[in-house]
Amino acid sequence: MSQTLLITGGAGFIGSHTCLVLLEAGYRLVVLDNFANSSVEALRRVAELAGLGPDDPRLQVVAGDVRSAEDLDRAFRQAPTPIEAVVHFAGLKAVGESVAEPLIYWDVNVVGSQRLLAAMRAHGCRTVVFSSSATLYGLPEQVPIPETAPVQPINPYGHTKAAVEQLLRDVATSEPGWRVACLRYFNPVGAHPSGRIGEDPNGIPNNLFPFLTQVAVGRRNQLQVFGDDWPTPDGTGVRDYIHVMDLAEGHQAALETLLGAEPQQLTLNLGSGTGHSVLDVIEAFAQACGRPIPYSVVARRPGDAARTVADPSLATTRLGWRTRRSLTEICRDGWAWQSANPSGYTR
Ligand code: NAD
Ligand code: UD1
Repeated sequence: MSQTLLITGGAGFIGSHTCLVLLEAGYRLVVLDNFANSSVEALRRVAELAGLGPDDPRLQVVAGDVRSAEDLDRAFRQAPTPIEAVVHFAGLKAVGESVAEPLIYWDVNVVGSQRLLAAMRAHGCRTVVFSSSATLYGLPEQVPIPETAPVQPINPYGHTKAAVEQLLRDVATSEPGWRVACLRYFNPVGAHPSGRIGEDPNGIPNNLFPFLTQVAVGRRNQLQVFGDDWPTPDGTGVRDYIHVMDLAEGHQAALETLLGAEPQQLTLNLGSGTGHSVLDVIEAFAQACGRPIPYSVVARRPGDAARTVADPSLATTRLGWRTRRSLTEICRDGWAWQSANPSGYTR
């Protein structure tokens, strides 16, 4: 019988794409999500793309909160076979909101992770893949950024990610048998090539790619480019954009590596190793959607770095994984999603 996994936050942007990849790889999934930033429709479409009928036991959904011991217990008990591993996506991720509401961010991201680990221990599960973030490098001194770079987050969101990484290391060191992967994502973007699932942020998007796709589809008038006076080739910020399907496959590789080897702790960057400027992304997206993207240059956004690019070589060595999809494919698939779903999942 195939292995069962618990996916917290599995209805979200990265979670939904990862659920699809894991179902296609033959895992059974229990998804725990409170739908604070997602829609059950995403999971319905994941099932459809994976060829599962309604109520197929291979994808079970528990509507619940990762901070609730009862909800976690329900998820573990509902699994058709004991849960072998957890992929922990559930959390809050808006940097500006984390500055305004640090208590909520520490509660959901840190307390939620602590409750999850307690439930895992209670149910004899000691394998976990955690959604960490390149945000914990803050304003990096060395680019490309290796995992050995200092952890120096500059906002509460980043602090919660650093705290959970530390919690995971402490727990893994406290008793034998833990298998832990902290995956530090760079900039996840794009969508499944079918255009059936994709990113559907609540309200005004904070990040470049979803804002750009909403401008392209006519939901917003124009994009603001945050500064063209950065020390980069064209003066706009440079980032390491990673196709969400590459990222999803990175989770599969991490799970297979953890489950197939002696207990270990992994901390890995998941990025492409290539940087693209804001103007590069605007140009590539205009090509993909066949229309110009109106934009104006405004002041720099406080807290931004000029350039963040991953050194992803450790993930390649440890997982045998690397990104395969280009910026052109990111834009093509992002447009497939946004053009077919101009209002997202319409929650
Ligand atoms: P998302 O908001 O689309 O997904 C998060 C999911 O968690 C949502 O479905 C939401 O409803 C759920 N959730 C939130 N609070 C919950 C709670 N208390 N209990 C249960 N479920 C809860 O975000 P995403 O982009 O898919 O990100 C997934 C993870 O990856 C997050 O932990 C995020 O911090 C991390 N991450 C994201 C990015 C990014 O740019 N998207 C980059 C680095 C790291
Ligand atoms: C954001 C988060 C960071 C997180 C990362 C990956 C902030 C402040 N930081 O950073 O914590 O780890 O996403 O999820 O939210 N840009 C514009 N116009 C826009 C939006 C962005 O020009 O409307 C520029 C930015 O200045 C930057 C680039 O586009 O140069 C990418 O921005 P964004 O998508 O927000 O990602 P990060 O800045 O990497």
